Amino acid sequence: LLSSLLILLGAYLLGSLSFAVIVSRLMGLSDPRSYGSKNPGATNVLRSGNRKAAALTLLFDALKGSAAVLIAQALAPRLGWGDSTVAFAGLAAFVGHLWPVFFHFKGGKGVATALGVLLALNPLLGLATLATWLIIAWFFRYSSLAAIVAAAFAPFYELLIWGPSMTALAIAVMGLLLIWRHSGNIRKLLAGTESRIGQKAAPAA
Ligand code: G3P
Repeated sequence: LLSSLLILLGAYLLGSLSFAVIVSRLMGLSDPRSYGSKNPGATNVLRSGNRKAAALTLLFDALKGSAAVLIAQALAPRLGWGDSTVAFAGLAAFVGHLWPVFFHFKGGKGVATALGVLLALNPLLGLATLATWLIIAWFFRYSSLAAIVAAAFAPFYELLIWGPSMTALAIAVMGLLLIWRHSGNIRKLLAGTESRIGQKAAPAA
């Protein structure tokens, strides 16, 4: 039990590394919490106009989710953990991204991290969810809408193709949290004021 708690804590700490803030700081850019949607995530970093910073944010926020799962998977046989510990390690990294201990518990919406977790838990599911995101983003040009739809589909893909499990439960919890974190985006989508992918943030006054 102690070892499972330690991996959850480790995954949470890893998830707490908010790469939107870290990458922007290292590249000498403004803090993403100060412009656009004020969200520390790849979509908002893209609004700075710096594609490289956005891509690095996406990459590292996804990698931390994958790393949490892959580390748990590697340790599982030695420490006697089941699938649930591995799935919950992914969920813990995701929770770290949403409520990061290093950034006053003000984190992002978890899209990149959830993708990284899914790809590591079940690569085929990760790819199906990514494809869902890409299709919606391609047609509608809203990053938030694509994330909401992909997050709603992911648990059903897992359930219908691989059957009920603790992994499916962790994915469903992640999806619900992700959609809930997008409530501001949902309001903007309904009001027709959500910004589209590639639209830059108004320069700070
Ligand atoms: O990455 C989160 C995305 O789905 C929405 O971000 O900045 O448009 O609120 P944002």
